[in-house]
Amino acid sequence: MPRTERGYRCRECGWTTVAYVGRCAGCQAWNTLEPFSSAPPASPGRARAHPAAPAAVLRLDHVDADTSARLPTGIPEFDRVLGGGIVPGSLVLVGGDPGIGKSTLMLQAAARLTAAGQPVAYLCGEESPRQVRMRAERLRLAGAPVQLISEPALDAALAAAEAAGVSLLVIDSIQSVYVEGLESRAGGPAQLAEAGARLLAFAKGTGIATIVTGHVTKSGEVAGPRLLEHLVDAVLYFETAKGGLIRLLRAVKNRFGATDEIGLFEMTGSGLQSVENPSAALLAPHAPGASGCAITALIEGSRPLAIELQALAVPSSLAAPRRIAAGIEPARLHLLLAVLARRGGIPSASLDIVASVSGGLRLRDTSADLPIALALASAILDAPLPPGTAALGELALSGAVRPVHQPARRLAELARLGISTAIVPPGTPAVEGVRLVPVASLATALEAVGLSHLPVRAVPHDHALQQPERGEQRHQ
Ligand code: TYD
Ligand code: MG
Repeated sequence: MPRTERGYRCRECGWTTVAYVGRCAGCQAWNTLEPFSSAPPASPGRARAHPAAPAAVLRLDHVDADTSARLPTGIPEFDRVLGGGIVPGSLVLVGGDPGIGKSTLMLQAAARLTAAGQPVAYLCGEESPRQVRMRAERLRLAGAPVQLISEPALDAALAAAEAAGVSLLVIDSIQSVYVEGLESRAGGPAQLAEAGARLLAFAKGTGIATIVTGHVTKSGEVAGPRLLEHLVDAVLYFETAKGGLIRLLRAVKNRFGATDEIGLFEMTGSGLQSVENPSAALLAPHAPGASGCAITALIEGSRPLAIELQALAVPSSLAAPRRIAAGIEPARLHLLLAVLARRGGIPSASLDIVASVSGGLRLRDTSADLPIALALASAILDAPLPPGTAALGELALSGAVRPVHQPARRLAELARLGISTAIVPPGTPAVEGVRLVPVASLATALEAVGLSHLPVRAVPHDHALQQPERGEQRHQ
């Protein structure tokens, strides 16, 4: 390997280059290159000429994996999303829109942990300690001995947390702290990357669990905290659902638990409360006999959740009628409407269609195909599905009803909520409390719910959805 005799060397990792660059290509650190004019020393680093002493090797079965060491926050829905509590030495990112409740949840978790005898430091970069105190009073947690750090310089704050010997450090927020010596502004990409690297080294080096909050815009198009996703152990995103009444905390990455696990919270006058019966909260209380509503159960993370799918169909005055989907992939909606027209004999070409998932949830697999198709059929024919009936199943283009995973858990959850009949794929094992109606095809399913021989009911034209503004996208 040719050796560089003169150039710049990274003081962090030893990477060398002939021409100066701002960022080390070896370790991605900024402004760490220093000039040198001799052969690189045989110190650790990538430009090493001869291999140094071999690194220590550890046998997998000898690695200590004490899962009982998790710190439960005592907030059931938060613990669930974390995978059973906070893992010591882990670095967790909690993202979400401003005002969604990140600081509230962090303060509640911090106070609970101190009450359980775990010391916690809370870096309040967004607010003054006075403001945090006022929030704590509102949450009736002002007596909690949480150690507040109001120091935006990250290294100094980390040193303070280490000196205080805490079990958990909360950084609220990553955008409000800065790493000294970097020219970029706080919250900028270079600052975020460097702060992330230092936090990771801090958490792993000290064993102090570290939770970092970060503002993310709705569409997530601003790079921001997403830059940190790859290096942290867990990424939890806060979203609102159900018109803002329910806050949903979703694990999009978790090295210590199930991804796609969701926690449901309600924002009350005294902070975030865990929702005790999420399925009941998500099942919108609909007017009995309303058309366009179908019930099913999803598996979200490690638990089943019952939801309602809602659809509305009205005659369109447009050449290309509107298809509006909330929580359902637009492409999936189009596909299901095509299957419904071709295999179920229920066309919708001249109708505007709106379809949504209750609670603001997003469907991420195809296990709700059949219930969506039934909700659409019910909306198009303006005839309700039989009460107390739910449906499970994926649909093939042929109209065949395919099995879903974990049917027993879904059905048990539906039974718990009082569902007495379920339209299911053939071969679904029996579950106590629910009468199963196996259907092999969409046509049979429509027959089973009494929607196969109804004429498409005409709706007065002035009920059509408003015409879109010029230039507005028709298919959302
Ligand atoms: P906050 O936790 O500060 O959000 P973030 O840190 O994500 O920006 O915001 C909480 C919002 O919730 C704020 O609009 C006020 C409201 N709130 C309550 O309704 N009840 C409460 O007890 C608290 C503390 C806040
Ligand atoms: Mg905040």
